[in-house]
Amino acid sequence: MSKKTLRVSKIKDGTVIDHITRGHALNVIRMLGINGRGGGVITIAMNVPSQKLGVKDIVKIEGRELKPEEVDKIALIAPHATINIIRNYKVIEKQRVKLPQIIHGILKCINPACISNSESEPVKSIFYVESEEPLRLRCHYCGTIMEKEDVLKQF
Ligand code: CTP
Ligand code: ZN
Repeated sequence: MSKKTLRVSKIKDGTVIDHITRGHALNVIRMLGINGRGGGVITIAMNVPSQKLGVKDIVKIEGRELKPEEVDKIALIAPHATINIIRNYKVIEKQRVKLPQIIHGILKCINPACISNSESEPVKSIFYVESEEPLRLRCHYCGTIMEKEDVLKQF
């Protein structure tokens, strides 16, 4: 079988989000609020062969080091992602994204009748992570289960 190698150059400074679940590179970019207007170089690689995952996506963000709070959202859709902070071409920090057991405030319940959606009595949303893969989140208030697709629609 012929093997094609995809080459993406190393970056000097910034963040490499590696081991993204295939097909989710653009969702990761969107969840991070990156639109390219910041001016820094953004490289997106999809369907890159990977030992661990078979196939993976990669996103490289030059000139910017992502903070853990920004990064943990990514765990919702790419639970195996690793965040590599690069300085002067070297990986100075590598960490896996992690999903907390309880998610406060980031997401909206898909049940319109849920108290967390009421305008008169606004309460912060709370979800329990019942399963990471496939993603299953249970609303604290109404018990509605949300899946990955429901989460993706919110970003
Ligand atoms: N990387 C980069 N620029 C650098 C250094 C690393 O773009 N100057 C990228 C690599 O291409 C890789 C990721 O950052 O996608 C992590 O680099 P490294 O830890 O060297 O690779 P691995 O050991 O293969 O990582 P892992 O063990 O997490 O699979
Ligand atoms: Zn609810």
